[in-house]
Amino acid sequence: MSPSPLPHNDALSAWLSEHGARFEDELKGLLRIESVSTDPAYAESVAECAERVAADLRAIGVENVEVVATPGNPIVIASHVVDPAAHTLLIYGHYDVQPADPVELWDSPPFEPTERDGRLYARGAIDDKGQVHLHLKALEARLRSGAGLPVNVKLVIEGEEEIGSPNLADFLAANAERLACDAVVVSDTGMLAPGVPTIAVGLRGIAYLEVHVEGPKGDLHSGEYGGAVVNPANALASIIAALKDDDGRVAIPGFYDAVRPVTDADRERLAALPHSEDELLTETGAPALGGEAGYSSLERIGFRPTLDVNGMLSGYTGEGAKTVLPAKAMAKISMRLVPDQDPTEIERLFTEHVTSLAPEGVRVTIRPHHGGLPWAADPKHPVFEAAASALRKTFGRDPVYVREGGSIPIIPLFERTFGAPVVLLGFGLPGSNLHAPNEWLDLATYHQGIETVARFYDEVAVVGSPL
Ligand code: BES
Ligand code: MN
Ligand code: MN
Repeated sequence: MSPSPLPHNDALSAWLSEHGARFEDELKGLLRIESVSTDPAYAESVAECAERVAADLRAIGVENVEVVATPGNPIVIASHVVDPAAHTLLIYGHYDVQPADPVELWDSPPFEPTERDGRLYARGAIDDKGQVHLHLKALEARLRSGAGLPVNVKLVIEGEEEIGSPNLADFLAANAERLACDAVVVSDTGMLAPGVPTIAVGLRGIAYLEVHVEGPKGDLHSGEYGGAVVNPANALASIIAALKDDDGRVAIPGFYDAVRPVTDADRERLAALPHSEDELLTETGAPALGGEAGYSSLERIGFRPTLDVNGMLSGYTGEGAKTVLPAKAMAKISMRLVPDQDPTEIERLFTEHVTSLAPEGVRVTIRPHHGGLPWAADPKHPVFEAAASALRKTFGRDPVYVREGGSIPIIPLFERTFGAPVVLLGFGLPGSNLHAPNEWLDLATYHQGIETVARFYDEVAVVGSPL
């Protein structure tokens, strides 16, 4: 049973419930735009989405809204200064989404947002358009209800997060002064359980590579040549199998060298969280959980690095059977990293090791994709207490602090560029199918998200200066 939120009777709550239905309609409009960043075929929709976010910001009275072109997808920025002496919050989010494939597994069309049982189903509903939208509506609530904004607000809403933010780092460096802020707030993570307000205090980093194995000059009859010519699919399978040992540990030499150990205090904190492995089983539908020996699931996800095959391609995969010895095989492999692993170093270790595993008779090449640094927050900064207080007022209970298993590679750069703390206030519920078919947003939680952010401004404003 999730505890019910505290009832509010103040003017802000009244204004929010009066406008809630319209907010949902507007969100649906945003979700209809097919802003898939990885596929150039969607470039027009991506541009349209950036313009839509900018137009919404202007319509609610946010000042200095700009859509900035980059060598890739545009970035929407804004700067609304109410008082140069007040604290400045920077809101980051992304309007781009992952591809909707496989479309046939959706129960309703991915870009036709559909409401079922209090959930809104659409690609991007939770990752991250719904969570960007709740920030826009929190701003609107303050600017339009008469409550006003007690802090300065800047926004950076990008269109390339799902492809590793290739243009954002340069943009931040070039605009560090005009985007200067005291704290960064991001809603692009989840909640530990329904009704349990959650602040994410860690993100895993990532190193993503492709392994290509080539053998004979073309596909061969597997009877005519099988057993005498090395099969690239078999070779790739044996390489992959050698990347983890029987204890579920990554077998790349040096892989764990920079990993900070899980402390007894970490373990105690994790064990006290309202979370059970049974929930994880139900959520995923997996027949059993599995991973590195000696660690709980929350430890495996938040505190330990891992390696996963994200895709494989080789040989005949159509209907029926075809006896073929494929000429080549390919796998996409990513490693999730934790402090203080360095993606560049991990990429190097992976390449060295996989090359050494290549059996004779095939050629192995490795192509790197994106990388990103792991991140852990220092939640002692007062802005975390401001966030906790806003969550408490909205959800009626103390927030929990968790390390997320996912990655937002630009987060460490925000911290470094602005010398400001980053608060991850996430509103995604477990099992919301991000990156998968039937992604959903819980509408009640979306409204609680708006309320939390609208109250967060007040909490930040009263934090002693300097922030
Ligand atoms: N919002 C997610 C990150 C996330 C996922 C945080 C789950 C917490 C829990 C983000 O949009 C994302 O998908 N990031 C990618 C990064 C990659 C494309 C570089 C990821 O984690 O795979
Ligand atoms: Mn996201
Ligand atoms: Mn994502």
